[in-house]
Amino acid sequence: MRASLCIEIGMLKLLTLLKDGRFHSGEALGAALGVSRSAVWKQLQLLESELNLTVYKVRGRGYRLASPLMLLDAEQIFRLATKASWPVLIHDEIDSTNAEALRLIASGRGAPFLVLAERQSAGRGRRGRAWLSPFAQNLYYSLVLRVEGGMRQLEGLSLVVGLAVRQTLLSLGVPGAGLKWPNDVLVGNRKVAGILLELVGDPADVCHVVLGIGINVNMQEADIDQAWTSLTLECGRLVDRNQLAALLSDNMQTYLARHREHGFAALQGEWEGAHLWQGRAVSLIAGSNSINGTVLGVDRQGALRLEVDGVEKSFSGGELSLRLRDDS
Ligand code: ATP
Ligand code: BTN
Repeated sequence: MRASLCIEIGMLKLLTLLKDGRFHSGEALGAALGVSRSAVWKQLQLLESELNLTVYKVRGRGYRLASPLMLLDAEQIFRLATKASWPVLIHDEIDSTNAEALRLIASGRGAPFLVLAERQSAGRGRRGRAWLSPFAQNLYYSLVLRVEGGMRQLEGLSLVVGLAVRQTLLSLGVPGAGLKWPNDVLVGNRKVAGILLELVGDPADVCHVVLGIGINVNMQEADIDQAWTSLTLECGRLVDRNQLAALLSDNMQTYLARHREHGFAALQGEWEGAHLWQGRAVSLIAGSNSINGTVLGVDRQGALRLEVDGVEKSFSGGELSLRLRDDS
């Protein structure tokens, strides 16, 4: 299923014609859309200003997109996935796939299901931070699950999602992908993906959890206030987002099943092996307080284990941020 609210239908039709990245004359585009050449020109300008796409205009040849565009396609994702078979809802534009997932839960839609979008106008990170979400470049992915097993089914869940994302990036040829507690996926010191879990209901009984994942896929330029990267910058090729979504869903299926059956304790060692900051000197920041220590790993519930003044201590909670110390 595909929904389009804010992006004009004319613009979408034009995109469908241009998405092959080849030249199309203004005349041919106008004829296909049933509008004048000047109307085509206006729509092209909207494509550039609204969707941030670059359109090359060459006299005598027409118009083409700077690079081919592969739009998300629920049927392809379904076909390419070998393990996961969740219903996929795709939006051309939405405020946030997590917000939409929460609205669908509130409206009574049965889980599991997956919400994807071509762009988010209010993509969110932890603690109200913004997640930059340009059109058709990245993956904005929110998987909704119903959780019945009480707290044990939630322990370490966001770390398990990190393992599934990392596995996906490794198999796509990003060998340096690793994790930073609690929710970041990095290549070296550059952020390539982020994870945001949101929960509704009673965590001790029955609840719904939204597993929100943002992966920078084909983004090559962005104004972000920290070091970042994308799959295309790491692999030197464009990545098919449908294939990525299918692979990620298969890996999510595998890791979630392991977590459901054995708990986070069974994944603790693997997570520590994937943690880029094992053994590093860090500051753990909670509001205006910070604690200096050395990273030992995580415990059986996914809490961060630090050595602080020679003593091992565990820390958990959504408000915590980890930073490398200058002397690390
Ligand atoms: P921490 O998780 O340790 O608290 P963080 O700075 O990574 O720190 P998050 O809330 O996890 O904070 O992520 C949101 C931040 O991610 C934004 O403030 C911005 O710096 C960065 N960001 C936003 N969009 C993107 C994106 N598409 N790719 C990479 N980074 C992004
Ligand atoms: C973070 O690093 O703080 C988490 C970023 C999570 C971004 C994803 S994109 C899909 C889903 N929808 C959102 O609004 N946020 C998450």
